[in-house]
Amino acid sequence: MATMPDDFKDKTVLITGAGSGIGAATARLMAARGAAVVATDVDIAAVETVVADCADGLALRCDVTDEAQVEAAVAAAVDRFGKLDVAVANAGIQRHNTDIDLYALELAEFERTQDVNLRGVVRTAKHALAHMMARGGGGALVLVSSITGLGGRTPNVSYMTAKSALLGLNRHIAVHYGPHGIRCNAVCPGALEQTPNWDEHPDPDGRRDGFTATVPLRRLGRPEDIAGAIAFLASDEAGYASGAHFTIDGGLTAI
Ligand SMILES: NC(=O)c1ccc[n+]([C@@H]2O[C@H](COP(=O)([O-])OP(=O)(O)OC[C@H]3O[C@@H](n4cnc5c(N)ncnc54)[C@H](O)[C@@H]3O)[C@@H](O)[C@H]2O)c1
Repeated sequence: MATMPDDFKDKTVLITGAGSGIGAATARLMAARGAAVVATDVDIAAVETVVADCADGLALRCDVTDEAQVEAAVAAAVDRFGKLDVAVANAGIQRHNTDIDLYALELAEFERTQDVNLRGVVRTAKHALAHMMARGGGGALVLVSSITGLGGRTPNVSYMTAKSALLGLNRHIAVHYGPHGIRCNAVCPGALEQTPNWDEHPDPDGRRDGFTATVPLRRLGRPEDIAGAIAFLASDEAGYASGAHFTIDGGLTAI
């Protein structure tokens, strides 16, 4: 059996939205590769379960719509582990029923998604960067965007505009913080077996069947499919990668 590399040994990684899906899979993978993992989420019980699987970890309640909580999470990570090397801005929501049809969209719904999916990432990046700059530079950020941010197909206009904006933010951070040895990259996952706010999806069976028939690899993605790409972009192996986005979608956007 192949052994797991320990390339995150001596690194502290903070992940938002780590209680479920991609964030939980990333926390478990990076912990298995030696990281001290600070797993944060609005759902504290969920991150406590994830951290129970990590050799070295800290579970924190952190709502990314509240800047004070994000700042406190970074401070708690530094307090516990001495430094922060990697931040994975992953927390996201998808309002399947209400984020539709721009001409009829409730702007409060637009704002609700933007507050988590865009401004939540801005808050996370801001406070991770503040620590990395204060300690003299160095570090890596990974932003979790989506293939939804690469095109205009989805009717979920707030979701897609937030995910597109993350790709601009990714370039901004790469350009302005690269001289300080800080890298930033994004991942664009395709359609996974479960979306955020899956319980609100109006037609889960139709979605699954449609994607399974269309995606060149003929299956939907799983959180573990994305975690490996996030870990790679955060790792020293990707030390010359910055400002890039990596698509993991079973070939869907290649069509
Ligand atoms: N699942 C997909 O098909 C898919 C595809 C592309 C991109 N993504 C993106 O991947 C990221 C993770 O999605 P997932 O599929 O793992 O979803 P998920 O719903 O399984 O996990 C998201 C986590 O974020 C947490 N969260 C929600 N609001 C939060 C807030 N305000 N502050 C902190 N945490 C909050 C939730 O509690 C949950 O634990 C999201 O940004 C999502 O947009 C998902």
